[in-house]
Amino acid sequence: MLFFSSGFPENLSAMAMVCLSDFEAYAKKYLPKIAWDFFAAGADECSTRDENILAYKRIHFRPRMLRDVSVMDTRTKLLGTEISFPVGIAPTGFHQLAWPDGEKSTARAANAMNTCYIASTYSTCTLEEISAAAPGGFRWFQLYIHRNRAVSQQLVQRAEALGFQGLVLTADLPYTGKRRDDVRNGFRLPPHMKLKNLEGAFEGDDCSEYGLPPNSLDPSVTWNDIYWLQSLTRLPIIIKGILTKEDAELAVRHGAQGIIVSNHGGRQLDGGPATIDALSEVVEAVQGRIEVYLDGGIRKGSDVLKALALGAKCVFIGRPALWGLAYK
Ligand code: FNR
Repeated sequence: MLFFSSGFPENLSAMAMVCLSDFEAYAKKYLPKIAWDFFAAGADECSTRDENILAYKRIHFRPRMLRDVSVMDTRTKLLGTEISFPVGIAPTGFHQLAWPDGEKSTARAANAMNTCYIASTYSTCTLEEISAAAPGGFRWFQLYIHRNRAVSQQLVQRAEALGFQGLVLTADLPYTGKRRDDVRNGFRLPPHMKLKNLEGAFEGDDCSEYGLPPNSLDPSVTWNDIYWLQSLTRLPIIIKGILTKEDAELAVRHGAQGIIVSNHGGRQLDGGPATIDALSEVVEAVQGRIEVYLDGGIRKGSDVLKALALGAKCVFIGRPALWGLAYK
């Protein structure tokens, strides 16, 4: 047996990784500080980021006994497609900061586990590379709408042609939240990494804001733009970033097929609710008309169970997938 007082043993394979916190500690130790800080970042004082995790600790089970649990089945369906268990991969950008193969590895891992991977607009591999890395894998494409609408239109149509099965519109990022450590670190993508899906779209511009020119996102996006998206694609549309019953109702009325209750991992509006605390109001408003999912702060199986018990069909993990990528 190997004993050590602090840090990690030299022989890493000897270390038992027993929970996501172990992967978090590993990533923190071995990733370059600028990458770790970028992954960990929350907006402003990070209260919402931290609440996402603390809120689970305030929710307790009412466990019932003597039920036959000899046969367990964790399978579920997302908009009709079966996955092995109700945990998917949330869209996060810049996977090459964690591992050179970037999103290609994420796609392979999600496929191996038979679950859904939502690939970000801000991937460091192209949608084509992601598709080729795990042919036939179940994937949705996450869209940010840019001021240059032709760029966004082309991305949606590329994703559909490549067999992505859903379009996830992120609704909570009209402007990028203030992540203090990124400002302190002067975060920039290393020169050899590119937002490959957008290559050529902003040629010659100053790409100082997370690999893009400042203010390239369209902050004028409204619910009416859902109709624009519907005119571009036959893919089902899932709205990510909903936290209230009013917006849940609007999502249903505008023909969305799913909602992801999300606060962007606390990276956008600081001071909003933990997602698990917002879930019940959204589920109640939706009344089963469309599917409701959740992300933010999921770190244990019991967190997943709490979200499912409160009405989510499935949950997604963001940072933990990045810690996994960083683990060699
Ligand atoms: C994100 N998130 C995100 N969301 C999105 O719609 N598009 C994106 O490109 C990104 N990029 C991104 C990068 C990083 C480093 C993080 C941590 C998060 C938000 C993400 O999809 C999800 O909402 C949260 O990460 C969920 O919270 P946890 O699981 O990280 O606690």
